[in-house]
Amino acid sequence: MRIDKCNNTEDFRRLAKRRLPAPLFHYIDGGADDEVTLSRNTDAFNDVRLIPNGLADLNGMDCSTTVLGQKIDWPFFLSPTAMSRLFHPDGEKGAALAAAKIGTMYSLSSLSTESIETIGGLTTGPKCFQVYIHKDRSMTHDFVERCKAAKFDALCLTIDTLVAGNRERDLVTGMTVPPKLTLKSLASFAAHPSWAFKYLTSEAFQLSNVKRHMKGGGDDLTSIIQYVNSQFDPTVTWKEAEALIQQWGGPFAIKGVLSVADAIRARDVGASAVMISNHGGRQLDGSASPFDMLGGIVDAVGDDMEIILDSGIRRGTHILKAIAMGATACMMGRGYLYALAAGGEAGVNRALDCMTTEITRDMTLMGCARLSDLNRAMLQSGNPLE
Ligand code: FNR
Ligand code: LAC
Repeated sequence: MRIDKCNNTEDFRRLAKRRLPAPLFHYIDGGADDEVTLSRNTDAFNDVRLIPNGLADLNGMDCSTTVLGQKIDWPFFLSPTAMSRLFHPDGEKGAALAAAKIGTMYSLSSLSTESIETIGGLTTGPKCFQVYIHKDRSMTHDFVERCKAAKFDALCLTIDTLVAGNRERDLVTGMTVPPKLTLKSLASFAAHPSWAFKYLTSEAFQLSNVKRHMKGGGDDLTSIIQYVNSQFDPTVTWKEAEALIQQWGGPFAIKGVLSVADAIRARDVGASAVMISNHGGRQLDGSASPFDMLGGIVDAVGDDMEIILDSGIRRGTHILKAIAMGATACMMGRGYLYALAAGGEAGVNRALDCMTTEITRDMTLMGCARLSDLNRAMLQSGNPLE
């Protein structure tokens, strides 16, 4: 299969599985523990049905919205994800260029393999930087100042990863960082010579934003789980979030909110947005799914702040359902990572084109010319026969 034959997220997923060594594919694809939350994330959308309007005036279809101070042409953007160059040498650059091409925002992870400065200078498109608070607090301070200098538009602070989730697939496949030939992974790397060639002939792996703070520039890294558990600080509180928001002084989102109480706390410490997320089911298995929590959070804080949602988005209709429930915009993680792994920047271009085509078609079928035409009366939940 080629990328131009991929029509949806599942097609890209299958192609990524063929192209990537098993440790890398399962690192993207997997979730925590029994992956109950991972599967609920998408099921939550599929359990709700859409009720379209007929013969509405669809002149001047416009799917744009404003999020984190930026106008974006589509109601979705790219979630921050770690270590993109492991999957394809185009890495974060390829994803950021593809996002800018369709007029949407790219989010860069603290644990990216391209630096704040490289991505900041690469496109004129909107950009958000994702902060993980490390034990070494000079890093957090540095991130903010570097993002100001590199003209990032917004920051988000991820609060659901104080320790790494239990990703058992990574234990089985022997997922190390950087990828190493181990007894467990040897056969899989040998079976993917094209990935191995690209990996070995492109710029060496590095955690570009954090390496200057690591002893030996990160040479002693063994796995992302080990990195998170040794470097992240599990004692962070809302007080620190508040100080970070003040240091930044611009649009700021708290990522990983699932409860009304946390959304209210985020508002009260000065965040301009919440990202309702369970990290794509990679952290606390058994945790609630963002779409199931969305309505309550919109009702509580929707007039005061932007509501962004990720985890489980695989189709344009999933995004429309979230907007109808009151979200400002959605983000996708695996939705673009599978495509990056399958075909680099060209793969992400194709995946984003498929998604924008779906959204335009779905809006037409819903009889909606603007995102604001979508509302809760267009959603049916529960068993209609009861
Ligand atoms: C992530 N996610 C993530 N989140 C974050 O705040 N910082 C990070 O470095 C990462 N890294 C990361 C790596 C990979 C491989 C994945 C799949 C995810 C979580 C991400 O931002 C987002 O919340 C989820 O991916 C959303 O779920 P879906 O769209 O993948 O279902
Ligand atoms: C992950 C971390 C690094 O989800 O955020 O893999």
